[in-house]
Amino acid sequence: MHTTVRWRLFWVKLKTFKMFLVRFVLLSFAFCGGLAASSDPRVDYLLHCAGCHLPDGSSMPPEVPSLRNGLGEIVGIPEGREYLARVPGASQAPIDDQKLATLLNWILSEFNADTLPAEFEPLTAQEVGIARVRLLPDPVKYRNRLWGSASIQYEN
Ligand code: HEC
Repeated sequence: MHTTVRWRLFWVKLKTFKMFLVRFVLLSFAFCGGLAASSDPRVDYLLHCAGCHLPDGSSMPPEVPSLRNGLGEIVGIPEGREYLARVPGASQAPIDDQKLATLLNWILSEFNADTLPAEFEPLTAQEVGIARVRLLPDPVKYRNRLWGSASIQYEN
């Protein structure tokens, strides 16, 4: 190969590599910055919930119930709204009330759009704050009762 062609190729390669590096560094900053001060419920979900509930919410039933498609049915009753913030995984998550409310609303709209009542009002930080301190002593028992009282068909 001719030397100048070789050089040109070398420069093109170097440029491509530099662009890759710059993009990589920028993306890393954006990602780390995002994690440090995230207002994105997706990130909170991945950090605090997905370990047990899996990234798509399908979880590991029956031990860990699915967060897909059934929750819309219980938010129609006050006990059901509270329940979402009272289960240990949600209640104890190291995020403030506003972020937990945003996260739970995101789970509802992202994974439960099909069952969400048309008149559903998003959870507020205030009601989540009041509910989450009333941690459920026996979540499984409470869950069975709740699902029974709402007479909901929820397969898990
Ligand atoms: C360590 C595992 C674990 C983590 C982490 C976790 N959960 Fe859970 N989650 C469970 C288990 C187990 C249950 C069933 C109730 C119980 O035993 O606590 C549950 C139940 C729930 C329920 C009720 C579902 C139903 O069908 O009754 C909701 C809502 C929920 N979790 C939300 C969350 C949210 C939101 C997060 C993250 C902020 C989270 N969980 C993190 C294990 C976890």
